[in-house]
Amino acid sequence: PATQKPTTTPADVTVFPTERHTGCPFDPPAELTALREEQPLRRMTYPDGHHGWLATGHGVVRAIMADQRFSARYELLHLPMPGLEGVEIPPAAPGDFTGMDAPDHTRYRRLLTGKFTVRRMRLLTERVEEITAAHLDAMAAQGPGVDLVQAYAHPVPAQMICELLGVPYADRERFTGQVATLFDQRASTEDKGAAYGAVESYVKGLAAAKRAEPTDDLLSDLTGTDLSDEELAGVGGLLLAAGLDTTANMIALGTFALLSNPEQLAALRAEPELAGPAVEELLRYLTVADPAVRTALEDVEVDGQVIRAGETVTLSFQAANRDPAQFPEPDRLDLRRRATGHVAFGHGVHQCLGQQLARVEMQIALPALLRRFPTLRLAVDPSEVPMREQNNIYGVRSLPVTWDRD
Ligand code: HEM
Repeated sequence: PATQKPTTTPADVTVFPTERHTGCPFDPPAELTALREEQPLRRMTYPDGHHGWLATGHGVVRAIMADQRFSARYELLHLPMPGLEGVEIPPAAPGDFTGMDAPDHTRYRRLLTGKFTVRRMRLLTERVEEITAAHLDAMAAQGPGVDLVQAYAHPVPAQMICELLGVPYADRERFTGQVATLFDQRASTEDKGAAYGAVESYVKGLAAAKRAEPTDDLLSDLTGTDLSDEELAGVGGLLLAAGLDTTANMIALGTFALLSNPEQLAALRAEPELAGPAVEELLRYLTVADPAVRTALEDVEVDGQVIRAGETVTLSFQAANRDPAQFPEPDRLDLRRRATGHVAFGHGVHQCLGQQLARVEMQIALPALLRRFPTLRLAVDPSEVPMREQNNIYGVRSLPVTWDRD
């Protein structure tokens, strides 16, 4: 029988720390790091009073994410962020498979995995290069002096995911604001519901058009499967939502991190072959998507403690990715380190479907930006860059940059 490690009393952690911007804008909240150092898997009392858990160590986070005795079904979860006490989370809508378990989740992933392989995504390289070049040209014409988020970091992945899905980029005003609302922890449940509804109905209309007249894109391909119209809208909405803000924030925050680490920036400029490892290290170091939440379907022993059926675990990817047991000197941005094994894309069956696309985008977009503007720098003091607090996707709200005219 397992020896139970001493557990702390449930009452001693009651808030999941989310305020990253108080110290270095790239580091996890100091409270979160302290919690991991003390105990990588510990009890946490949720804002609704639920006595659940908080996982912050790399080993325990991976172990729980890999274990299908933990469910991702929305209706079983308690949320660690305050302000949503007593709100019943409805089950996942048709097609929103990130809130489903096997076998429902498996069915959707099977339809999609082949569309997002390394090979398929590499075929998009040329298109990503064209899109980045076009936005860099526009930036050069507009500046010196732009908001990098508006001019580059957001439009590049937005245009890519639109083209891949077959969503007209010109329609972007109809969903980008709504997608932002879905990730904003300050948005009310009503606002989130309305945002989800708007994205879903937009995609539904589009999917109907593709069914009638298929074009060469993912949504049209999916009309050839057994997915219903509702499911198609859910899948399309999920891909749109997951593919927009995540990569955009990695590009913008990644640029901010590089500008703050001139030696690393110089290395990436000088050595194009560093792009691959650099992107993995930036993913690890910045971990923009955090946290995940799961609920035990049965009693599960993890690291000598027993998580009971029905108990929710909040899993912090940013804390895990700064775990010194896995990554020596974890708070140092070192583009040459082997950052493999990071959990910036999650882990297990729900691991990011779009990771190869995101990698191709970042490996092209970041070096291309640095090459095009050799004197790129922040146009404001680093402390004045507005950070995205209280958001499921961390990053910057804007990034004022400038350069010398050549
Ligand atoms: C899932 C991060 C880009 C589509 C996830 C998860 C993470 C993540 C952490 C797991 C969530 C969980 O288990 O609870 C990121 C990051 C990105 C990125 C950091 C950019 C750097 C993309 C892109 C797409 C995408 C470009 C577009 C296709 C998805 C989907 C899921 C997912 C569909 C749900 C997978 C499932 O539940 O089976 N992502 N993602 N992601 N991501 Fe990404």
